[in-house]
Amino acid sequence: MLVLGIETSCDETGVAVYDSFRGLLAHALHSQVALHDAYGGVVPELASRDHIRRLLPLVREVLRKAGAREADLDAVAYTQGPGLAGALLVGAAVANSFAFGLGIRAIGVHHLEGHLLSPLLEKKAPSFPFVALLVSGGHTQLMRVAGVGDYEMLGETLDDAAGEAFDKIAKLLGLGYPGGPALAELAQEGRSDRFAFPRPMLEQLEKNGDLNFSFSGLKTAVVTLTRTRALDEQTRADVAAAFQEAVADVLVAKSLAAMRTTGLDRLVVAGGVGANVRLRSVLDAAASRGKFSVFYPALEFCTDNGAMIALAGYLRLKADEAARALPLGFTVRPRWDLASVAPPETPG
Ligand code: KG4
Ligand code: ZN
Repeated sequence: MLVLGIETSCDETGVAVYDSFRGLLAHALHSQVALHDAYGGVVPELASRDHIRRLLPLVREVLRKAGAREADLDAVAYTQGPGLAGALLVGAAVANSFAFGLGIRAIGVHHLEGHLLSPLLEKKAPSFPFVALLVSGGHTQLMRVAGVGDYEMLGETLDDAAGEAFDKIAKLLGLGYPGGPALAELAQEGRSDRFAFPRPMLEQLEKNGDLNFSFSGLKTAVVTLTRTRALDEQTRADVAAAFQEAVADVLVAKSLAAMRTTGLDRLVVAGGVGANVRLRSVLDAAASRGKFSVFYPALEFCTDNGAMIALAGYLRLKADEAARALPLGFTVRPRWDLASVAPPETPG
C-alpha cells in the first residue's frame, strides 16, 4: 500500500510517501519558523496562508523523490486535529481532493497518534504494549498504548505543556521562537547545579502515585529568579541548564513510575521535546539501570512531520480494509482528546 501523508496542524508543512513493503520512501518539510519569528509565536492566519503556498509543491517534490506518480497512491492520510483550524483545513482539503480525484481513500489522523506511533518508523521499533511519553509544544501526556487506537491516559499536564514551558523560558532568556532547541543549546554552556528549581508534582507522585504534570510553578520560580539578578551570559546559561534539568527529572521520574504502575518494560518518547539531548541521556541512563528499553523516533521525526502521519494512516487503513468509501466531505477537529480515539474497525 502506498500512502501519502500530509501534516499541516501548526507551523510546519510536512509531506511523506510511505510504502507498506519498503517503508518510508521520501519526505519533505517546510518550517514556518522564520515567518512567525518576528511575532514571538505562531500567527494562525499566516500559518494557513503559508500552508496553501507550500503544500502542493511539496507533494510534487516528495512524489518525485519517491519515484512515484499520483496514480500509484493507494490512500492519503492527513492530520485531522488537534491543531489550528485554518491550518488543518488546508491539509484536509488537499488530501480529500487528491483522494476524490484519484478514487482512493482519505484518512484523517490524530496528530498525537502520529507522534505516538512515530518510533515505529525506526528499524529498532517497539512492539505493543508500551508506555508512551508524549512531550510536544501543546501536550504532555503519559499513555498506556496497547495497540493502534487503544490508548489509556495515565497522566497529563494540568497547565503548560513541557514544550510550552521551554518556549516561555527561552523567551524570558531572550532566545527566539520556538525556544526549545535554542534553550537546549544554551544549557550546554551552563551548570545545572547553580540554581535549585522545584521539581513540580514529584511530591504527589510519592504520596499517591499521581502521574500528572504541572510546569507553572517551575516557570514562576525561573521568572522570579531572573527578576532579581543581572542576566549575564553565564547566568543565562546556568538558568537554562537548571531549568532543563528540572524538566528532565520530572519527565523521567513520572515515566519510570508509569512503567512500574503498568508493569511494562518498554517506553516510547515522542514529540518535539523528545529531541532534547539531555532528556534522552537521563532516560537512557535510567533504562540501563532499570533494565527497560526506551524507543525514540529519529531526531527529524520528533517534531512535526508528514512521515508519522503517513505511517499512522497506513496502520489504521491496514486494520480497516472495510472502509472503502470515497471521501464526499470532511471535517477537522481543532480540539480532539487522544484517549477518545477508537481503534480501527477490523473487517467483519
Ligand atoms: O511536536 P512538536 O513539533 O509540535 C507540537 O505538536 O507541539 O513540538 C514542538 C515543541 C516546541 O515547544 C519546541 O520548543 C520543543 O518541541 N522542542 C524542544 C526541542 N526541540 C523542540 N524542546 C526542548 N529541547 C529540544 N531539543
Ligand atoms: Zn506535534
